[in-house]
Amino acid sequence: KKWFAVIGDPIAQSKSPEMHNTWFDLDGFDASYIPIRVKPEDLEKAINSLNLLGVSGFNVTIPHKTTIIPFLDEIDETAKLMGAVNTVVRLKNGHLKGYNTDGVGFVRSLEEKVGNELRNQPVLMIGAGGAARGIAFALKNQGYENITVTNRTLSKARDLIDALGSGKVITNEEASQMLNKYKIIIQTTSAGMNYGEFSLPFSIDRMSKDAIASDIVYNPLVTPFLQHAKEIGATVVTGVGMFVHQGAIAYEHWLGQYPDTKLMVEKLTEQLN
Ligand code: ATR
Repeated sequence: KKWFAVIGDPIAQSKSPEMHNTWFDLDGFDASYIPIRVKPEDLEKAINSLNLLGVSGFNVTIPHKTTIIPFLDEIDETAKLMGAVNTVVRLKNGHLKGYNTDGVGFVRSLEEKVGNELRNQPVLMIGAGGAARGIAFALKNQGYENITVTNRTLSKARDLIDALGSGKVITNEEASQMLNKYKIIIQTTSAGMNYGEFSLPFSIDRMSKDAIASDIVYNPLVTPFLQHAKEIGATVVTGVGMFVHQGAIAYEHWLGQYPDTKLMVEKLTEQLN
């Protein structure tokens, strides 16, 4: 029997165990997936223990995505570029290899919803943190040519675009003014997390009704950013799809096949609604 885990702190809220265990059942794998709370100071011991006990692979979530890197034997190129790991595979020789499936997960989720005909359309990324970086690289690799980044701290947006090697930087004010020019708008800031006291970095009144609005946050399912998009009749891509696909890509690394993402997006959307 194979077993898998997710490590983080806190971890009780994670939907990953339910998602992966459902897929194991559907695909007929004799496997199980458990949540393990690991405090920051215990990270190295926890990883060595997982390896010793023969884990086949595990996911990594907040606050360990970056700090885990020195404790892994190998890091995939994308994860290196992002400076963050969300998926670990235990190789046959016992080495632990880190991947990052978040960015590609986002792009798959986007294209599952709106197809792949929009790759030449202007994309606006709000935010320039770790999540934004992963998504920007994945979009570029997938052929999205026209990426603009806006961020409260402009120098971080500049760093992201420099690393990417193409694209534009604009201020929040400019983004607000020219919002109707963007077909795909991706909200990656943590400003969207606090539902009660939510304030977007800038006014989004000028969003086009033809836009596709996407948020990486999935709890709440409909963030205030997405709520506004919904109200004006724009297309909404919630963060659930990204969550499901980052898990699906991890699953594929571990078990060699892609699980049923559509069913899982439906199931989790229903739960979170
Ligand atoms: P993650 O790895 O999840 O992307 P992060 O690296 O801390 O997290 O990045 C958080 C992003 O949210 C950044 O773009 C941050 O803007 P700054 O670079 O200016 O800090 C953005 N952010 C967080 N709180 C914000 C707020 N209240 N208003 C505007 N932007 C905010």
